[in-house]
Amino acid sequence: MHRIVFLGPPGAGKGTQAATLAKELGIPHLSTGDLLRTAVRARSPLGQEAEGYMRAGRLVPDDLVLRLLRERLAAPEAARGFLLDGFPRNRAQAEALEAVTPVDRVVAFEIDPTILVQRLSDRRVCPVCAAVYNLTSQPPKQDLLCDRDQAPLDHRPDDRPEAIRTRLEVYRQETAPLEAFYRERGLLRPVRADGTPAEVAARLRTVVEEGMPGATRTTSPPTKRPSQ
Ligand code: AP5
Repeated sequence: MHRIVFLGPPGAGKGTQAATLAKELGIPHLSTGDLLRTAVRARSPLGQEAEGYMRAGRLVPDDLVLRLLRERLAAPEAARGFLLDGFPRNRAQAEALEAVTPVDRVVAFEIDPTILVQRLSDRRVCPVCAAVYNLTSQPPKQDLLCDRDQAPLDHRPDDRPEAIRTRLEVYRQETAPLEAFYRERGLLRPVRADGTPAEVAARLRTVVEEGMPGATRTTSPPTKRPSQ
């Protein structure tokens, strides 16, 4: 059983690593950011309510996020475990999660904030398959087109300078204190998130496999977030 939480600031590489690791472990990658962006694109009532908060880089109200996530955690695919990416984001969400399910590991991505701004400014995403690129570190083969489906890549509205600043501040104030919350419970495992994606993946492997005999991994497939 792998019940894993990824904790880390915007741009630390959580989504990039989660997509690969979840696939290798055969567990669902539950990204609240991806679930919310899907709701926004679908123009659902929840998506319409969430959109303004996301665009500004602020947290979406807890009740909306919990509504989206509870259903995913209760689905049969999550019976063998899950990888939570972007949740919990504050103490209320961490307590709500504890009330629903135990977790085995909380991986804290550690990285210099100056690297984050550069990574987020250069990120581009495919609106069709949700693949994540970076103009500097992981560029598409053809200029600004997705390698898989040739769709023009998007620049996330919250990857613009002002929203990035807000997201980093929200992280510092609301989410970073969760490191202490999980350290007290003996679940926190820090991982350095600088270096190449392959280097980060190797560090993660060590942390995830520690004390988990069932954690077999195959060779790494390309980074792709699951379509919702
Ligand atoms: P969310 O989508 O969760 O955004 P985030 O936490 O800010 O995380 P990011 O997706 O920005 O970064 P990441 O760490 O996944 O980095 P990535 O792998 O893409 O949330 C968005 C918004 O939704 C929130 O602001 C909020 O409004 C709302 N929301 C979501 N969850 C919520 C919740 N629980 N409660 C309330 N509101 C919520 O990598 C970034 C870039 O770097 C990419 O270009 C990638 O290619 C590149 N990269 C990755 N790794 C490396 C590497 N090792 N070297 C070089 N480049 C790399």
